[in-house]
Formats: sequence, structure tokens, C-alpha cells
Amino acid sequence: MNIVLTCPLWLESLAKKELELLWLPILNSQDKQITTAFSDENLAKVNLWSRIWNKVYIELVKKNNIDSFDKLFDLIKSIKWSNLILEENPIIINATSISSTLESVPWIQKIWKKAIVDSLTTWFLRENDKFPSIYVEIVLIKDTCQILIDSSWDPLHKRWYRKQSVEAPLRENLAAWLVLLSSWRFRENFYDFFCWSWTIVIEAWLIAKNIAPWLNRNFAFEKFKFIKPWILENEKNKAKEKIMNKTYNIFASDLDEDALKIASDNAKIAWVWDIIKFEKRDFRDFLTEKDLAWTIVSNPPYWLRLQDENIDKLYKDIALLLNKNRDLRWWVITDYQFGDLIKWEYKKRKLYNWWKMCYLYIKK
Ligand SMILES: C[S@@+](CC[C@H](N)C(=O)[O-])C[C@H]1O[C@@H](n2cnc3c(N)ncnc32)[C@H](O)[C@@H]1O
Repeated sequence: MNIVLTCPLWLESLAKKELELLWLPILNSQDKQITTAFSDENLAKVNLWSRIWNKVYIELVKKNNIDSFDKLFDLIKSIKWSNLILEENPIIINATSISSTLESVPWIQKIWKKAIVDSLTTWFLRENDKFPSIYVEIVLIKDTCQILIDSSWDPLHKRWYRKQSVEAPLRENLAAWLVLLSSWRFRENFYDFFCWSWTIVIEAWLIAKNIAPWLNRNFAFEKFKFIKPWILENEKNKAKEKIMNKTYNIFASDLDEDALKIASDNAKIAWVWDIIKFEKRDFRDFLTEKDLAWTIVSNPPYWLRLQDENIDKLYKDIALLLNKNRDLRWWVITDYQFGDLIKWEYKKRKLYNWWKMCYLYIKK
């Protein structure tokens, strides 16, 4: 068995670094997926500390050349299901097939049921309110079959502090990734002047304080019979001891009145309400300030709400602010292309925020 972590496309290298920081080996790495070694401790650790990953799975088996239903049947049947989960746990199966001989997802699901009933004579494949469902993924890519159990439940990027759904938020794991990529030196001022629901600054604070993002939630693996029941509590206690007792200069501003309301709900839940310094402000106010030397990680608007505003003018002013201050370090993510307005040398990377293609501008 292994642990398989999934993350958004193109964020893999920093996701790997997160594993290295937890002293876990990288056994395999491909687009959107990284494999590490299984142990109860490792499973609890990766779920608790996941900033960039979306989900943590237990890989029960991975085999090449699964190009017939008979082979798939034998593979599923070879797993000792009775050692893994309680008979009463209902199982929910999801199948994915990409460039493989076996294409029919409904058939893959049928084979699965037959194989598992064959291997567990007393198995109940039925709804059962008292026992939590176990989510199993059958993934076939170019005839290589992986059978995975979801150990996380809710996706890990859906952070606990985001209670209100808001328009155009940055995906939380992307925000964490940006902060990590910025290598923000914690003694410096950190700024987001398009903060809206505060995703970036809350993630920055969690990273600076070394707070495991998932200290206060439950995971699917707590219900698996082969996982030591005390393991999560152990790892949570170890994580609590690692929290830094320092203060940081994290600033957030936004023009919109609503940002304060939305953000205050998020920020109170994330315990940062009186820690992050928020102002309702137009970023253009900073155009008159001199020699700013901050780390800026920001996500300016993709479009403007008011018709009398002009998006081209807005990006001209953003470029003006960046150009004026030699000592600003910046990471700006947007779908607007404004590279030719920037006078410093910069790098540009493509990324997805949810399903939207964006560009990340990084000062060199
Ligand atoms: C794409 S959203 C930022 C989303 C944010 N990263 C989050 O996760 O919630 C862009 C924000 O820029 C703000 N904005 C637009 N024009 C502005 C200006 N001139 N000064 C400051 N903020 C502005 C909008 O109110 C909006 O909240």
C-alpha cells in the first residue's frame, strides 16, 4: 500500500516540497499526483498538514495491463477487503477511465460489485446511516489501474475558515502555494491590496505561524478499521507543539465595503481578526508613498463591477505601483495580460484558479 496525494496541475513541485518537509519519501510523481510511503502516522500527518494537496488517498493496488474485465475482476478480488473496512460500511465507487481499453464506467462499477461480493460473502452493499460511507476510486489510465480509498472526505483545499461562499475567491491551496512560492521572509511586511475574502493573508498567517491547516477537522480514515484510532490525536498534539509564538506584519486592503464583512467572518473563524491589519482602501493610495519594501502577493480583479471603471486603466496603475518601487517583491495572479507595462525583469507562469486560466507575474 502507498499514499497518493492529488494536487492541482502545475503545483506539483511545491507539493513535493511539503512532503519533504514532513520527512516523507517521494516514491512517484506525475501530473497532479504524488506517491509516498504508507504508514498510519504518515496518513495522519499528510492529511493534517496539507496546504497544497486536494485529497489524500490510500492506494490499495496499482497494476499495468488491465485491459479486460476478467483482469479487473481478479485485481479487485485480490484485495483483502475484510481486513480494511467494516462490513457495515457502505461503499461508494467512482470510476475514471482515460485512454484505456476498458472504457465503460458503468461496467467497471458492475464488475467491482461482483468482485467485492465474491470476496466478502457477508458483504452488505446497501445504504446504512449508522456507518460512514467509504469512497473508492478506480482509476484506469492507459490500462494501468489504481484502486484508491479516499482518506480525507471533504477536499482539503476547502478550508474551514471559508464559511461564506464568495464571488471570485482564490482557491485556498493556490493561495497557500503562492505564499510558499514567494518565500516571504516572515520579518518583512506582507501585503495583499486586493484581499476580498482574505484567502491569501489568512494562508500567509497559517504558514508563518506554522499552524497545520487541518487541526480541527475529522477525516475519513478515522473510521477505517486498519488505522490505529489514537494516531490522529497523537499527530494533532505534535502539530500543536510546532506552532510559532511570534507576531507578523500582515496587511490586507480592498476597495469594496463588502470585503470587510465577508473577510471578518472568515477571519474570526481563522482567529486572525485582530492580527491581520485590514483597511478599506483603494490601492492607488499607495502610489503616493515612497520606497515601499514589502512582499506583495495579490490577485487583482479579472473584471470590474462598475461600468464606469476601466480595467486597462486599473492595470496601468498596478504597473505604475510595481514600477515605482525597486524594493517591492511581488507575485501577482490575474487573467489580464499586462507584462508589457512592467519595467522590471519578471517571470510569467500559467496557472489555473479553479477552471480559469490565469497568469502569475513574478518579479525576478
Ligand atoms: C479577484 S478579487 C480578489 C479575490 C481574493 N484573492 C479572494 O480570495 O477572495 C479582486 C478584488 O479587488 C478589489 N478591487 C477592485 N478595484 C480595486 C481598487 N482600485 N483598490 C483596491 N481593491 C480593488 C475588488 O473589490 C475585489 O475584491
